[in-house]
Amino acid sequence: MASISLERVSKAYDRKQVLDDVSLDVAEGEFVAILGPSGCGKTTMLRLIAGFEQIDAGAIRFGRDVIAAPGRSVPPEKRNVGIVFQNYALWPHMSVAENVGYALKVAGVSSEMRRRRSVEALATVDMDRLADRSPADLSGGQRQRVALARCLAAAPSVMLLDEPLANLDVHLRASMEREFSEFHRRTGATMIYITHDQSEAMALADRIAVMDAGRIVQFATPRDLYREPESEMVARFIGNGLVLPVSDLREDTRSGRVEVDVFGRRHTVRARYGQPAAAAARLSVHPDDLLLAGDETSGFDAEVECIIYRGSHVEVHFHPRRAPDLSLSLHAPHDRVFEPGALISVRVGDGWVLPGAA
Ligand SMILES: Nc1ncnc2c1ncn2[C@@H]1O[C@H](COP(=O)(O)OP(=O)(O)O)[C@@H](O)[C@H]1O
Ligand SMILES: [Mg+2]
Repeated sequence: MASISLERVSKAYDRKQVLDDVSLDVAEGEFVAILGPSGCGKTTMLRLIAGFEQIDAGAIRFGRDVIAAPGRSVPPEKRNVGIVFQNYALWPHMSVAENVGYALKVAGVSSEMRRRRSVEALATVDMDRLADRSPADLSGGQRQRVALARCLAAAPSVMLLDEPLANLDVHLRASMEREFSEFHRRTGATMIYITHDQSEAMALADRIAVMDAGRIVQFATPRDLYREPESEMVARFIGNGLVLPVSDLREDTRSGRVEVDVFGRRHTVRARYGQPAAAAARLSVHPDDLLLAGDETSGFDAEVECIIYRGSHVEVHFHPRRAPDLSLSLHAPHDRVFEPGALISVRVGDGWVLPGAA
């Protein structure tokens, strides 16, 4: 297995800049998710790493070896990269074991050795019992496991996965998430996992690179992305994030926190060290951070729009009286009942001042 590093990589198609000065360091054995909305350049990045496309500027390294630079590129078959696509791409006329062993056959490995390595790889995804089945007789989840085993059998130095769960239904996705984690733990593979689904990325990755319009806007652990987003885009994209306008930001030197005015009420929230005082700022919060205040004097006034029953809690959609166009939501105990139009008082239990945003 190898580390992967992208150094100031750019790529344009025609005149459209698809990747713009992207740098990324993935450690050996790390599981990194590339997360971003459709069209932001995720698949293009994967194709550059795999060697299917050439970079315009910058460099890509596996370990210490430069495998791509402008005008110089190691061909895909020499990069020793395993790829898993969302549509599995299994050969229908071959058995499961033959699919898994195909790359080894092309590489000239003897049929006995091939069979052994295929069954070994299938055992890691708990599919060795089905080695002689045809792909047509498998479920979607089983096919994706065969695709993983095929990737593994070739003993790649890095594994690239492009939205591998996008074609599976919700229940299967949850169980496959656990299998991917387990697979990563067992193999220690360096993995780059592409997805547009933030909850999938949060569940799986050691670190997540959030992309927007051809750039990496933040590269951090799931916890840091959730608690300390650097921009409004990341704040909104992760964990049903909400962004509130706040005013009169002042340092609270004793606590290392700051005080802000949220729709007329003072609150203490978290901010970057040294965040300067400001007349206006933007605050990142999540529905779980907004609390029903016990009395009308501590929270800001808001009006209920609707409630949605979620079993463990009710989701209360509301807008602040002072900002009727701003739709927010909070989670209340499952037995609380509100009518649309009811007045509530809301407090911010936890929040993070977005650095640099006013
Ligand atoms: N071969 C190509 N030729 C021209 N434009 C392309 C090509 N491949 C991708 N693009 C464009 O590059 C942008 C990023 O595409 P892609 O990397 O597939 O995004 P994602 O995987 O994040 O959805 C899109 O606007 C897409 O239309
Ligand atoms: Mg894509």
